[in-house]
Amino acid sequence: MKIDILLGLQWGDEGKGKVVDVLTSKYDVIARFQGGPNAGHSLEFNGIRHVLHIIPSGIFHKEKMNIIGNGVVIDPIIFEEEIDALVKMGLTPTDNLCISKKAHLIMPTHKLLDAAYEAQKGNNKIGSTLKGIGPTYTDKIARVGMRICDLLSPNFEEKYQHLLNEHKAILDQLHFDYSMLLPELDKKWKASLATLRKFAFIDSEYELYDYLQQEKTVLAEGAQGTLLDLEFGAYPFVTSSNTIAAGAFTGLGLDPHFAGKVIGIVKAYCTRVGAGPFPTELFDATGEKLRTIGNEFGATTGRPRRCGWLDLVALKYAIMINGVTDIVLTKADVMSDFDTIDVCTAYRVDGELTNHIPSASDAVVEPVYTTLPGWKEDISKCKTYEELPQVFKDYIRFIEEETKAKVSIVSVGPDRDATIFRY
Ligand code: GDP
Ligand code: IMO
Ligand code: MG
Repeated sequence: MKIDILLGLQWGDEGKGKVVDVLTSKYDVIARFQGGPNAGHSLEFNGIRHVLHIIPSGIFHKEKMNIIGNGVVIDPIIFEEEIDALVKMGLTPTDNLCISKKAHLIMPTHKLLDAAYEAQKGNNKIGSTLKGIGPTYTDKIARVGMRICDLLSPNFEEKYQHLLNEHKAILDQLHFDYSMLLPELDKKWKASLATLRKFAFIDSEYELYDYLQQEKTVLAEGAQGTLLDLEFGAYPFVTSSNTIAAGAFTGLGLDPHFAGKVIGIVKAYCTRVGAGPFPTELFDATGEKLRTIGNEFGATTGRPRRCGWLDLVALKYAIMINGVTDIVLTKADVMSDFDTIDVCTAYRVDGELTNHIPSASDAVVEPVYTTLPGWKEDISKCKTYEELPQVFKDYIRFIEEETKAKVSIVSVGPDRDATIFRY
């Protein structure tokens, strides 16, 4: 059996959580492969909105197994909060969620280090979510990090204290005063481990291999987006993991032969939270209109998202890097009241037209737009592709012709039901 990979093709918040929830009915297993609580994946059904950070978005389907893969970094405090919320809803997550023994733990000091490093950057801040992501992956790469399997070791406390002291030394060097914050955080963190320990810790690579041998279907859930990828985003304005399809292979321990579809989630316009290049960003009333109608405020930090027009140069790059087989177009319903809609079809860099993204994040990029007519119709109630206005279908066709990728699903609202399957 094949494993399909679902990921964001922009700067995150494309609607991955909603789409994973919708697609879960078609799979046996949902597995998160990277990122951590920097993610905020929203989904809605029965009039209630849920936001998940670490837990895969298939969790609401009781009969489906959810796996947190080795590529994910876990903050036990946030994990506990998420679990408590699910239990309050009447779910029993211990029945259908398990965690890779190789996943790394975010320690309280990782969060403090995140804050200290950001503070040091002054005007060059990345705009981190301050969830400790960068410092945790740094320790992973430096081969000193703490993993879920360490919770099973008799040396856990010793290892924890050792790393904690190393972190304190760095914080001292950075003149970051942790004396008030750390004791409380540390206490909360240790208490929250009890919830984590209730779950099955597994060798997820063996488990997934067995599932696939048994003809079970797996959906790998990505976090963030391709343009925040550590390698291929606008470095250093990126996150600290591989958000691209390749990340699913390292983040779950997959054999590439099992790769099936690569489902890329694309917002009909662009948003970005945090700093970094955003060629099509709108600083005017149109940007404000997208933010207001689209409710573009971060699901994790509540920060207003920067908004702009769809960027096909960046989208084509993301499709190329990921080998996207299917696009899911989300949030076009937000643009139901626009006379015209601009789409960026090329960049001008140093006076030259190009369809490549420059590697230097400080390159001055001027977007070149094609203006398309708006559909000026509420599409949020449409149930079938046929019902959609022709002008909107033309917009989809334009995207398909430019990107050479097919738009297989159209999402027209946050709810599970507001989803149109095309292919
Ligand atoms: P994710 O990080 O990719 O899972 O996306 P987020 O949950 O951070 O942000 C997407 C936001 O858009 C959430 O509030 C979703 O409920 C909402 N959403 C998802 N799809 C649609 C859609 O097609 N239309 C509208 N209007 N909202 C959507
Ligand atoms: P989901 O999965 C949008 C951004 C942050 C910051 C940069 C680095 O919900 O799409 P980090 O905390 O990872 O060190 O921050 O990446 N960022 C996201 N932006 N959606 C996300 O996740 C993000 N996760 C991180 O705003 O600019
Ligand atoms: Mg999000």
